[in-house]
Amino acid sequence: DKGGYPHFMLKEIFEQPDCLTNCMRGRVNVDTDNVVLSAIIDYKKQLINAKRFIIVACGTSWHAGQIGKQMIENFCRIPVEVEYASEFRYRNPVITSDDVVIAISQSGETADTLAAVKLAKDNGAFIYGICNAIGSSIPRATNTGSYIHVGPEIGVASTKAFTGQVTVLTMLALALAKEKGTISSSDYLEIVKELHEIPEKMKKVLELNDRISELSRIFTYAHNFLYLGRGYSYPVALEGALKLKEISYIHAEGYPAAEMKHGPIALIDSDMPVVVIATHNAMYEKVLSNIQEVKARKGKVIAIVTEGDDNISRIADEVIELPTTIECLEPLLATIPLQLLAYHIAVCKGKNVDQPRNLAKSVTVE
Ligand code: F6R
Repeated sequence: DKGGYPHFMLKEIFEQPDCLTNCMRGRVNVDTDNVVLSAIIDYKKQLINAKRFIIVACGTSWHAGQIGKQMIENFCRIPVEVEYASEFRYRNPVITSDDVVIAISQSGETADTLAAVKLAKDNGAFIYGICNAIGSSIPRATNTGSYIHVGPEIGVASTKAFTGQVTVLTMLALALAKEKGTISSSDYLEIVKELHEIPEKMKKVLELNDRISELSRIFTYAHNFLYLGRGYSYPVALEGALKLKEISYIHAEGYPAAEMKHGPIALIDSDMPVVVIATHNAMYEKVLSNIQEVKARKGKVIAIVTEGDDNISRIADEVIELPTTIECLEPLLATIPLQLLAYHIAVCKGKNVDQPRNLAKSVTVE
């Protein structure tokens, strides 16, 4: 049942505030200023003593892992590697009993991720799963884990599972950091409070749907798109590019913004739309100068900014404003306009957004 929406994908994009509320229910408690994940209570020793985390995943789930890496390293001071499950399983990787492997999978059935879990387990690592489909193969193969509880995802392009995965990774990083004493109590409290506010802020972002639908029409001509971001926004750029290519069949690449001058800048001309996540954070000035470089070459800039930004509004072709939040939580808001942009461009081009060609919802063969 599409619940009155023309496609499952749009329904699932709009469900995200409720999904995240469900995901955080009983886990993020603002009254007691606390984040509780049962897996951390039950397996505290294994998780706290981990010398390294290795995240294994594919596709969109791998992008969520890239955001998780930054949070775990920032707050817990434990090194994190993010691996494509398909590469990891065939590479003879170094795995020891001091490692905790985090397997991220919406379906819980992805063949490569499941094989990576089995390999890591055979080598003595402790396995933590972050999955959506209850009772699926990956959760059954792990030692413990946390479900994202976002409900069944029908659209082939993953949307609400991504934000659910990022939310669980945020809770995991916060809860672990508190146990390890690697985060100040003021930072912890500030992030917990702000995380609780995210579903309401997401609703405000979803109000931009009509505006994004309108601007999408301008860009259906494009054969290539570049997506740029830095820090926490870099994986968001990767995810935005993946969404566009899978449902609209427009070639798109996500890049760390500063890498642009090491190659992709050669592609920029007046036909090239560049989506830049340029929210107001530590990297703002640097990303602003990337936007100037794109404009100097007549590229078309679609900028995702923090509300009230007037520097970028003056130079970008299109500007999408997000509510303010803490830097590590920006991906949860910045992803939404990119999902909507991909959706509307694909719809304008008459593509089957819920079942794009050549793609399956769960990849149970390698
Ligand atoms: C992209 C997408 C895929 C999946 C990938 C992993 O929109 O849906 O890239 O993210 O196939 O799937 P799961 O998370 O089920 O292991």
